Amino acid sequence: MSAQTGDKRWTVLELLQWTTSYFTEKGIETARLDAECLLAHALGQPRLGLYLEFEKPASPDERARFRELVTRRADERVPVAQLLGTKEFWSLPLEITPDVLVPRPDTETLVEATLQGLAGKGEEPSILDLGTGSGAVALALAKEFPKAAVVAVDRSAAALAVAERNAEKLELSERIEFLLGDLFAPVAGRRFDAVVSNPPYLAEAEAQGLAPELAHEPKEALFAGPLGTEVLERIADEAEAFLAPGGWLAVELAPAQAETVGQWLGQRGFEQVQVHRDLGERERVVSARRRGED
Ligand SMILES: C[S@@+](CC[C@H](N)C(=O)[O-])C[C@H]1O[C@@H](n2cnc3c(N)ncnc32)[C@H](O)[C@@H]1O
Repeated sequence: MSAQTGDKRWTVLELLQWTTSYFTEKGIETARLDAECLLAHALGQPRLGLYLEFEKPASPDERARFRELVTRRADERVPVAQLLGTKEFWSLPLEITPDVLVPRPDTETLVEATLQGLAGKGEEPSILDLGTGSGAVALALAKEFPKAAVVAVDRSAAALAVAERNAEKLELSERIEFLLGDLFAPVAGRRFDAVVSNPPYLAEAEAQGLAPELAHEPKEALFAGPLGTEVLERIADEAEAFLAPGGWLAVELAPAQAETVGQWLGQRGFEQVQVHRDLGERERVVSARRRGED
């Protein structure tokens, strides 16, 4: 960031303009937004506050903090959420560390589908979130259903610690049980009104062509195995035994997997198989209801 060194006085606007074009040169698609988020973080203020201070000069300390963030973003391609240590999901501010997947806006489709699936099912649903990561989905559902009892499972102890801290900060920990283990193993013998999951669903061979930012996220959050559908298939196989009759299952997946997963569910104990599209109109979530009376 040589243009920022030396004695020149840099205003907020100049820093933003310089960094936006630097990020653009480096192939970062959300260049202006990233520059704003990082500068606001370095200055310790909300992003929109920058617009009121365009002409204000940044102090040498602020510039040094900003320079380091810009370098890590541009050269190492660290995701902005990891640099800030936070990401909003379903309007909830979540702590993010390299131990958890950065929650994606597309995953809000999973929350929306579950709200539809649980509509009219009473105010106190029991919900199981498999592969909770930062806790994003479990927390959004606990927020939406103020009397729900939620169980959040992950096989990464480090991820669970982040999810637990997020629940404490949002004052939702009393209604969320965090369990360490492999998929359904920690809830043996229990039944839920809804099972939801955003599992790893990439095939290992896809690693080559992915955005460089993904290298900073946990591999076990992204890759399921050689096919990509391994964890989805286990969920489809095992979910019935953990759902109450009439219970609801919803899984996030890659669009190309929707048809196969829908067929698996139809061939097992499920009906009303439905595909839900994300913000970009891609098939992102498959849901189904366990057969039987509720
Ligand atoms: C794609 S991330 C989803 C995180 C979060 N639910 C979200 O939507 O942002 C998948 C998560 O599943 C966890 N995971 C992967 N395989 C698992 C397994 N067999 N049992 C439990 N958790 C698993 C990973 O550690 C990771 O936290």
